[in-house]
Amino acid sequence: MSKKPATFLAKAGHFTDPQTGGVVPPLYSSTTYVRDEDYELPHGRQYGRDNNPLYEQVEQILCQLEGGADGAVFSSGLAAMAAVVSVLQAGERLLVASEGYYGCRGWMQREAARIGFELVLFRAYEDGALEQALDGSGARMVWIETPANPTWSVVDIEKTAKIAHAAGAALVVDATVMTPLICQPIALGADIIMHSATKYLNGHSDAIAGVLVSAKDDQLWSDIKETRRQAGPILGPFEAWLLIRGMRTLHLRVRESSRNAMAIARHFEKHPAVEAVLYPGLESHPAHAIALKQYDTKIGFSGMMSFLLKGGFEVAKRFTLATKEFAPATSLGGVESLIEHRFPVEGPDSPTPHNLVRLSVGIEDVGELIADIEQALAKATS
Ligand SMILES: Cc1ncc(COP(=O)(O)O)c(C=O)c1O
Repeated sequence: MSKKPATFLAKAGHFTDPQTGGVVPPLYSSTTYVRDEDYELPHGRQYGRDNNPLYEQVEQILCQLEGGADGAVFSSGLAAMAAVVSVLQAGERLLVASEGYYGCRGWMQREAARIGFELVLFRAYEDGALEQALDGSGARMVWIETPANPTWSVVDIEKTAKIAHAAGAALVVDATVMTPLICQPIALGADIIMHSATKYLNGHSDAIAGVLVSAKDDQLWSDIKETRRQAGPILGPFEAWLLIRGMRTLHLRVRESSRNAMAIARHFEKHPAVEAVLYPGLESHPAHAIALKQYDTKIGFSGMMSFLLKGGFEVAKRFTLATKEFAPATSLGGVESLIEHRFPVEGPDSPTPHNLVRLSVGIEDVGELIADIEQALAKATS
């Protein structure tokens, strides 16, 4: 990309509508495209399940930001993940990082049982764990999420890619929380990047969307795109339009929420009610050095963090319900701050600590956010 991401994004990929000169694309809602007198498709488009000018614009923007060969939008992050998983055959092996969004793991486990591929959970955040999981049996694919929701463990992408490739496996990275502004996993060796675009990419909690970007236009990618074409988990045009609008301010939002998150992490790291603040931007985070190596720290470390609270489940629950500026709601990456006690949301089989409270830090005034957390901690522990 010849321009800096901020310049490129503000202009939505230097878009000008060829029909009107508008700087914003119209909402292309047509599901079908007419043929010409030779029965050809003059614009190369046939049907809305295959493409739409708005999907193409989203894909081009993300492909350029990520440095990929091609991209594909989906109706949700999970739909994007499911399209990747759809290429796995009975008898193949999928290695999945043991920490990460529980919804992805849940779907993969269900598909493994149905299709008959082997799913192996491995501790991606520990040295030697991938080599051990690959040993002897190899794998078709390695799936990591970094930083991992909701513990925010960080994986060394470059090292993981080298080990996966040496064993003949493709590396897929769920990079939802980093966004292409904080880190570009393809440059570090990843084969496919996944984003829940519902989160930071859109950023306004008003559209569900997913995106994949592939390093290569190879057979794996063509099989994934075929799943989208045939099964049809595509984005609605309005959601694609919202996503384009949201991405225009991505750099501002990610930078500001990262700055707020860093201030909150530092302020509460030593608070007497807090056992630990899990945030890769803190020197105390076990993978801070890896984050420094692979993040663009001028943008920051994202707005996502978790608190482990002294006093266990009950204090965590009381704290979550006591904040006023952080709304007790699921999801993340929006301009507004959200808070969530994760264990009850993930269910009884969840490995997430019972005292973990996740914060999605937005772009509000940081002094007011800190004051809100202070009063909620006081209330929860009184
Ligand atoms: C890291 C991560 N990946 C994927 C997903 C799933 O995305 P979606 O909700 O857009 O299907 C989520 C949702 O919370 C997530 O946090």
